[in-house]
Amino acid sequence: MHAHRQAIATPTARRAHVRVGQHHTAANAEHEDASGREFAWTQTDFSRVQALIYQRAGINLHDGKHAMVYSRLSRRLRETGHTSFHDYLGWLEGSDGPEWQEFINALTTNLTAFFREQHHFEVLTQLLRTRPNGPWNIWCSAASTGEEPYSIVMTALEALAPRAPFKLAASDIDSNVLAKAARGVYRQDGLKGLSQSQLQRFFLRGKGDNAGMARVRPELRQPIDFLSVNLIRDDWPFREPFDVIFCRNVMIYFDEPTQRRVLERMHRVLKPGGMLFVGHAENFSDSRDLFALRGKTVYERVG
Ligand SMILES: C[S@@+](CC[C@H](N)C(=O)[O-])C[C@H]1O[C@@H](n2cnc3c(N)ncnc32)[C@H](O)[C@@H]1O
Repeated sequence: MHAHRQAIATPTARRAHVRVGQHHTAANAEHEDASGREFAWTQTDFSRVQALIYQRAGINLHDGKHAMVYSRLSRRLRETGHTSFHDYLGWLEGSDGPEWQEFINALTTNLTAFFREQHHFEVLTQLLRTRPNGPWNIWCSAASTGEEPYSIVMTALEALAPRAPFKLAASDIDSNVLAKAARGVYRQDGLKGLSQSQLQRFFLRGKGDNAGMARVRPELRQPIDFLSVNLIRDDWPFREPFDVIFCRNVMIYFDEPTQRRVLERMHRVLKPGGMLFVGHAENFSDSRDLFALRGKTVYERVG
């Protein structure tokens, strides 16, 4: 975008492009607004995006996110051939097609890491050792690119008796990150938090064209069922209740009424006494009728 902007920065430059016959660049220049942006972008457009992503994903985009939203959605405009946000959003709202998934994917924030918030994995180890022969049924409900669910499975394979029944549902709303999670291929420099023995036991190092990459071994992949679940919708596909739910660093994007509704549903799909792990900045003490705090950002189902 910057290169494009430099090339067409002035009206003179625009005319020059037309003269030398670069119609494509000149045509795009028509859509550069007074601020130098490629696409016209108004407060009304931003408010519309805020309303749509809130309805679809519960994500509460605050006003400071203008630049982020513009840059992430500009790509969608280019790929779908729209020349203004007004047109793109009108087209999106008028359809029920696959662009909705792309719109959501563009606006989620997927930051994650292996063994993020290490203390949770120590608590999980202690918990799993109380019943080393299983069975265990765990849900990782905002799995992003997979580092969190694979960290949970590594912890389980290390804590439980060999072949103890253990299964993990790993879900997210974003189809791109779920596909990456299911592939289980990571850059080796993203695996720094893992011990040597974990690297050897659970990963295969890439060679040749795949040098610098590592793939999870089948032992790590096999207990996981990857699936798309929107936390704010009332259509969760689970039949069996969970012993443990990880719901970390996602509710932070939701407002309080949405958090409460999600917590009520999580309460329903957790077994009595089941544990809920949440992110470091998330606090659900207002819902103490549903969950009691049992450690740093670890809750137990009440009732
Ligand atoms: C910041 S990441 C957190 C990843 C991981 N749980 C962690 O703590 O490292 C937040 C994830 O929540 C997902 N997400 C956002 N809204 C969601 C929704 N309504 N339903 C399910 N997942 C959602 C995003 O796609 C993203 O992958």
